[in-house]
Amino acid sequence: MKDNIIYLDNASTSFPKPETVYRETDIFLRKWGVNIGRGENRLEYEAAAKVLESRRKIARFFGIKDYRRLVFTFNATLALNLALKGGLKKSDHVLVGPMQHNSVMRPLHALKKIVSTSELRHDKDGLLDLNSLEEQITPQTKMVVINHASNVNGVIQPLREIGRICRDKESILLIDASQSAGNIPIDAEECNIDLLAFTGHKGLMGPLGVGGLYVGERILLEPIIEGGTGFASELERQPRNLPEGFEAGTKNTPAIIGLAAGIDFIESIGVSAISSHKSTLIDRLKVGMEDVEEAKIFHFDSENSESCGVLSFTIEGWNIDDIGKVLNSQDFVVRGGLQCAPHAHRTLDTFSEGTIRVSPGYFSSEHDIDSFLQSVKDITVSKMYQT
Ligand SMILES: Cc1ncc(COP(=O)(O)O)c(C=O)c1O
Repeated sequence: MKDNIIYLDNASTSFPKPETVYRETDIFLRKWGVNIGRGENRLEYEAAAKVLESRRKIARFFGIKDYRRLVFTFNATLALNLALKGGLKKSDHVLVGPMQHNSVMRPLHALKKIVSTSELRHDKDGLLDLNSLEEQITPQTKMVVINHASNVNGVIQPLREIGRICRDKESILLIDASQSAGNIPIDAEECNIDLLAFTGHKGLMGPLGVGGLYVGERILLEPIIEGGTGFASELERQPRNLPEGFEAGTKNTPAIIGLAAGIDFIESIGVSAISSHKSTLIDRLKVGMEDVEEAKIFHFDSENSESCGVLSFTIEGWNIDDIGKVLNSQDFVVRGGLQCAPHAHRTLDTFSEGTIRVSPGYFSSEHDIDSFLQSVKDITVSKMYQT
């Protein structure tokens, strides 16, 4: 990384990546950078075998028994669009969790002429009220959509309990695991998740441009993108076969290989060790921010100290854009504003200005946090002298 930049924006994308992610992606591109499923030659067979091995590994990581139920997409946004637009029909009712990203809210908005939505009840931190969830699911509720971990305040929703309730009530459960994957263990089948959307470039430490959707056994999706699949080319209509029917067009195979390397890295360290490192850094940040009198902190501590490493704050008397600019000018990479999650900010009452979000990663250090805290303290003191 460039000298003296302190990167604290891992909720946007993890950076840097593990060395093995760079290396495996590079090797694959050089040796097997051909288009798989399109021809019949040794190079292609080998490349396809590597992609299949990665698909198996990624499926296993999420507790998915049948790897064919894992559809590769280019990111979580496409996975969520596929789940919503390919899974919902006219007159369906959808219950929406309180901390959604625009990658859920905008597809739902686009579907609003055919689908009705209501919001699940929650507390002030955006934690779901499980008793209400049980009451709010009606026979018309086709789907419950929940963001496992918030990209604004890090609140983590209890997957197992949510899954049990949705299964008992016969409602489809769609989980957005963009922030949690790689930070919190997820077993899609054990948790009764029907649709699990994830992105490869955040906590999973893979390259940008790959994500996926697990499609559970109860689900019959319609494809939302039509095109070449490398098989059944004589058919005019899009095949529905999992996974290829839902992966039309050329796949980002180097990113898939890089994602598998990211998962190998995570497994070598252990998800809980990664989560615990982030939790230590966030605790340090939180304690330091509590010394800044004007600061209001938005962070939710989970009971078992699981952490995706996300904390937001505002500073009284400061406009978010202004603090963001000062911090950026000092080479801290943090994210100010709404973080593509106006829905979550409405829940936290931080709409429309948003917050400054700090998200250390596995490669961040206590020194990074201390330098950041020192800058925030200097900035607030300098303002005091100006006024
Ligand atoms: C909670 C959440 N959902 C979905 C997304 C979308 O991820 P991607 O941009 O990789 O599609 C993000 C990215 O910030 C996110 O934080």
